[in-house]
Amino acid sequence: MAHDLNRRDTFKAALLPLIATQPAATPATAQSGGRLVVSLSRSGNTRVLAGALSRRFDAPLFELRPRDRWPEDYEEMVAWDSRMREQGNNVPLAEDLPNIAAYDTVFLCHPIWGMDLPAVIASFLQSHDLSGKTVIPIITHGGYGAGEAVATAQMLAPAARFTDPFVLECNQERADLASLNQWLGENL
Ligand SMILES: Cc1cc2nc3c(=O)[nH]c(=O)nc-3n(C[C@H](O)[C@H](O)[C@H](O)COP(=O)(O)O)c2cc1C
Repeated sequence: MAHDLNRRDTFKAALLPLIATQPAATPATAQSGGRLVVSLSRSGNTRVLAGALSRRFDAPLFELRPRDRWPEDYEEMVAWDSRMREQGNNVPLAEDLPNIAAYDTVFLCHPIWGMDLPAVIASFLQSHDLSGKTVIPIITHGGYGAGEAVATAQMLAPAARFTDPFVLECNQERADLASLNQWLGENL
């Protein structure tokens, strides 16, 4: 079961030492062994994990970005993502990945947005063929867990083989901003 806690924790325990001990300077163009790291990150939490995986496995890192900039304001961003999901996850990407066929394993690194898969990741899965590939979800969230993300990704890439996800709680933009605003209210 994808959300089985024990298997998830085992995978997490296996992965964390790899992330913590890797040097920072392997070129992304080195031999990948068929591995690819795909990453979406707004506030940087997921980017840290994606970069570590890329260096650990000498795997190219493909950072997903929408063609049109997303809002800087957090609440507008939440509304933007839900609107994109309601509209069928058709977010034009800044770049498509031309050679997805060259990889057999994809680390799919993303945050949780709206308790689900971000519309940008859903758009990537809809526009790239992951049939027959092993997909390893690497998920960060702000305290509410992975939600429906794995189930949604499996639905959008039904012919891919998904492993149990690595799921990590990270800081949350909303909470960071609330703390900042409280401090501003008290001090300035
Ligand atoms: C638009 C938006 C929606 C979010 N929705 C959730 C959510 O539903 N549940 C949750 O636990 N965290 C939520 N978060 C927090 C992020 O999942 C969490 O901070 C994540 O680690 C951010 O990753 P990043 O720094 O790579 O962007 C949301 C963040 C954003 C920007």
